[in-house]
Formats: sequence, structure tokens, C-alpha cells
Amino acid sequence: MQRILSGIQPSGDVHLGNLLGALQNWVADQHTHESFHPIVDLHAVTVPQDPRELQAATLRLAQMLMAAGLDPDVCVLFVQSHVPEHTQLAWVLECTAGFGELRRMHQFKDKSADMDFVCAGLFTYPVLQAADIVLYDTDVVPVGDDQRQHIELTRDITQRFNARYGEVLVVPEHRIPPAGARVMDLQEPTRKMSKSAGEAPGTIWLLDEPDVVRRKIRRAVTDSHSEVRFDREAKPGVSNLLEILGAATGSTPRDLADVYDRYGPLKNDCAEAVVELLAPIRQRFAELRADPAETQRALATGAGTAGEIAAATMGRVREAMGFLPRR
Ligand code: TRP
Repeated sequence: MQRILSGIQPSGDVHLGNLLGALQNWVADQHTHESFHPIVDLHAVTVPQDPRELQAATLRLAQMLMAAGLDPDVCVLFVQSHVPEHTQLAWVLECTAGFGELRRMHQFKDKSADMDFVCAGLFTYPVLQAADIVLYDTDVVPVGDDQRQHIELTRDITQRFNARYGEVLVVPEHRIPPAGARVMDLQEPTRKMSKSAGEAPGTIWLLDEPDVVRRKIRRAVTDSHSEVRFDREAKPGVSNLLEILGAATGSTPRDLADVYDRYGPLKNDCAEAVVELLAPIRQRFAELRADPAETQRALATGAGTAGEIAAATMGRVREAMGFLPRR
């Protein structure tokens, strides 16, 4: 089985765009791949975090991922900071990556552009990400195009490391995941549904109550002319509803467009499909909330599995680099 790894930051709740765009792929992939999913809390602290909130958000994200279908008995779900080898390998790879290489990272340039304090960790963020990947002999990293540069960097520094020290690390490949749904903001259907919208009515959260989901979809921006057609350019609002309905029910937006000739019924069916999709997730989440120890045990097991592999990789790295064994 191919090994895949994809990390997720504990920043904010999961929304419908995350679920239909990426998370459902992860849930499917866990049965056909050896899947590793670190919750990357060490990456989160490259920007200021409230300690108490970080802790709560980390547990909450684990619960949300499990509620959405990631099964800790099937995949390896764990907290990055529970496996100290991530930072150990990151240091070694920082000594392999070039300063100039890191300076070219788009994500760093974008993120640091309007910050008044930029910590060094934000700059070396992609190297920690490389360590996440390489630590587990990952074959494939299924992440979106926005992460392409980071995965290319990972490949470059891994190859450089191997050229220097021998074939120690597995060079991973980037794979753009099968196109999940492209869910757009309900109020501004030309931009992706996002976390930053806060309480905004354009974002549907995984834990939104049925009536909230219905209200947000009822109030979704549609387009002038009442014709139902899948056309993202001319009819972004209606196309988005077709996309969501399609993803929630397993059909295609184009086929669905033929079924409707008015916006009202489309919105109704879309809302009910999303309510139905989220109902079991909300229920499972509530159960997990009621017994946090269950999630913490699952995360400890995940860290145990991850830690064994990570220790073996770090052992090879130490030996290859000539660090004196502690005896
Ligand atoms: N940088 C990724 C993001 O912003 C998160 C991440 C951290 C990641 N480590 C990873 C993704 C390893 C894939 C593999 O989404």
C-alpha cells in the first residue's frame, strides 16, 4: 500500500468546503492507502496563538476529523508535537535547505507581507513541513496546488540530503487530489468558502444546526435571470448550489442542472442534502465531546504508531550524518 501524508492546522473550525473539497478524500483514501494525518500544532505557533485556545482547538479538530469519518483505527491520526522527531528532523533539514530557496516561498512572502513581527519559524515553516512528510517515508502527498512549492522544496532537500549522506530518505511525490468539490462562499460565490469569514453567512460550518444551514442556503446569493444552468462564469451562485448538491448526493452539477428550472426547489433540495450530510457528523461530534478521553486515547495511539516510524527514520539520519551514538 502506498503511504500518504497530509497535515492540517488546528486553526478554526472545519467548514463545508473543507469537508467536500478535501476531507472526504482523506476519508476514502484511508481504506486504500496507509494514511498519516498529523494535526500540525507546531506549524500553528508560527503565528501568535493563545495557549488555552490552541489546546482546545487541537482537541476539537481531532474530534471533528473523527466525526467526519477519519477512523483512528484505520489511519494514523496524531498531534505533531506528540512526536518530538518532527522538530529533530526539521533541524537537520534546515541545515540542508538553502536560505535563498526558502526566501522564494510564495506562502512566506504572502503571509509575512503585512506582519510587523515575523518569527524565524514562519520562514522555516516549509522545512518543518518537509520533516512531517519525510519522517514517515511518505510516498505521496495529496495536497492542493497552493502547496506545490512546498512539496517541490521537500523533494529538493530530500534529494540533496541523499546525495550527501546516501539513500536514507524517501523522496515523496506531490499528487493533486482528485477534484473534490470547489465550494464557494454563499454570499460571494466568486471566492472560495473560507474560515476567515468568521460568523459570515457565506460559510457553512460542519456543526451548524439544521435551521442555520437552511437559512444560509435560502439566503445564498443567486444570479439574475431565473434559469438554472451550471456555468461558473455567468452564474456563480447557482453553480455553487449545484456543486454542493452534487457533492452531497453523489451526482454531477451538470446533470442536476437539468432537473431544476427554478431557484426555490434547488435551494430547498440543496439545504436538505447538506442537513442530511451533516447530521451524522454532528451526532458523532457530540458523542466525542461528551467523552474527551476517548479522543485523547486515540491520539495517543496514533502518536505511538507514528513515533515508532519516526524514531527509526531519525535513527537512520543520525547514523548517516555521523552523530556519535549515545551509549
Ligand atoms: N502547510 C500545510 C497547509 O498550509 C499544512 C501542512 C503541514 C502539511 N505539514 C504538512 C500538508 C505535511 C501536507 C503535508 O495546509
